Amino acid sequence: MLSIAVAANSSSAADSPSLEDIVEAWLASPHADRSAEAFTHWDEDGAVREDCATCHSGPGLLDFLGGDGTAVGVVDRPAPTGAPIDCVACHNQAATALETVEFPSGVTVSSLGHSAVCNVCHQGRASTDSVDRAVADLEDDTVYPDLRFLNVHYAAAAATRLGAMSRGGFQYEGRSYARRFSHVRVFDNCAECHDPHSTVVELDTCSRCHGGKRASDFRTSGPDYDGDGNRREGIHGEVVTLHEELDVAIRTYAQAVALQPIVYEADTYPYFFHDSDGDGIASESEAVFPNRYQSWTPRLLKAAYNYQFVAKDPGGYAHNPHYVLQLLFDSLESLSIQTGTDMSAFRRP
Ligand code: HEC
Ligand code: HEC
Ligand code: HEC
Ligand code: HEC
Ligand code: HEC
Repeated sequence: MLSIAVAANSSSAADSPSLEDIVEAWLASPHADRSAEAFTHWDEDGAVREDCATCHSGPGLLDFLGGDGTAVGVVDRPAPTGAPIDCVACHNQAATALETVEFPSGVTVSSLGHSAVCNVCHQGRASTDSVDRAVADLEDDTVYPDLRFLNVHYAAAAATRLGAMSRGGFQYEGRSYARRFSHVRVFDNCAECHDPHSTVVELDTCSRCHGGKRASDFRTSGPDYDGDGNRREGIHGEVVTLHEELDVAIRTYAQAVALQPIVYEADTYPYFFHDSDGDGIASESEAVFPNRYQSWTPRLLKAAYNYQFVAKDPGGYAHNPHYVLQLLFDSLESLSIQTGTDMSAFRRP
């Protein structure tokens, strides 16, 4: 029934889960969830468009990788809907042999090991480069009605993990950024921390090195990056506080410089809206597409891009904690030129 190619370097049969367990884990995973928006979004069209198919359809990925005998690196035709990421999508010769992946910045990264295939889909769809192109030659603090919010897309864990190697966050000129987060050997790839079939992080494997019940408690870094006086909270806590500070700074800047209050709503595209009543909360009537924010300045757009980049990778603190903190710090610092935010308490990794 199932004919799949498994990488030669997979663990020995003795400690491997049974095929039954694997199928069960996969069935319960988001990759197999046919009812998810990520797999039903194209139902009305009857097929998944070429530029979406690589990541939103098992056969689409196979097509992109050339595993179906077509050209490598392109999707040749619309892909079937309702076809989640199945065994064959990840286990075919093209996927198993994959070592090198191109990112939205145009950069190609190699040595991605047996998790290379995860990097194809979890890489986002934008980068420093696309933000730079959108604001080229524009004045930092002038409102341009034609500017639109740039969304990195979702769960760009691979872009976070590679940091400056793939430039998935918006990297400010003149700053240096953390490269690939090299954690520890055997917990370095996607499928070493995540079970590739359930996608769940196997926390019991972390405890021989990290104290704390949840990954969000883990901490090895020293400095108090967010200036709250707490060096014992998980690194996750440092990220959360700076992310909240960035939300405040974005709203302060929009009011003071763009002269139009802004508000963020995590679950509604395109995420940033006019805060008509200025209460800092996206009400149901505000979080609607016609009310999308349209008073972007280049400085605001860059900071908002990074805010969303961090918001949409909830594992960023484990994928590349210092890269995420650098993006937040630099966005805050850039806005502070106009908002006067006191940066003295914050530390940049
Ligand atoms: C999202 C990609 C993905 C999907 C979908 C997927 N696998 Fe895997 N699978 C992997 C990765 C990555 C590994 C680890 C490979 C390695 O260690 O070299 C793996 C390993 C395995 C192994 C080796 C045993 C082990 O745990 O190391 C088997 C058998 C396997 N998969 C079967 C399946 C079956 C059956 C399905 C469908 C029910 C499936 N896989 C779906 C990515 C996937
Ligand atoms: C073909 C594209 C594709 C590949 C390959 C892929 N993913 Fe995914 N992944 C997705 C999509 C799409 C979703 C969202 C599915 C949903 O909403 O149900 C997702 C969801 C996830 C989630 C859950 C996110 C959440 O919001 O709960 C994790 C964790 C994850 N993937 C990890 C991995 C890992 C690890 C690998 C490699 C072993 C991998 N993915 C390979 C496309 C992919
Ligand atoms: C490079 C891979 C990639 C491409 C190309 C891609 N997506 Fe996605 N998309 C993802 C991943 C990964 C997720 C899953 C995020 C998560 O964990 O929920 C996702 C999620 C989504 C969602 C669900 C969002 C939500 O909030 O649940 C929609 C809708 C979507 N994508 C639309 C599109 C459209 C439309 C296109 C083509 C124009 C596209 N995507 C192209 C990777 C991709
Ligand atoms: C050092 C261990 C580690 C590595 C390596 C790692 N992750 Fe994660 N990942 C985590 C932790 C911890 C979380 C947050 C806890 C959770 O959501 O289960 C997370 C969260 C995620 C999420 C969001 C899940 C959600 O619930 O929304 C996705 C998607 C994801 N990781 C994909 C990947 C991909 C793809 C790779 C490889 C490029 C990767 N991860 C590498 C530890 C890791
Ligand atoms: C063999 C020991 C070891 C194991 C096992 C281990 N880690 Fe780590 N972890 C480390 C070390 C060492 C660092 C510091 C790496 C660095 O900053 O370069 C670290 C750093 C981290 C950080 C960032 C902490 C900070 O303050 O910057 C997170 C989050 C993390 N690990 C999560 C995990 C998760 C999740 C697992 C299990 C899936 C795991 N680790 C398993 C040794 C380990």
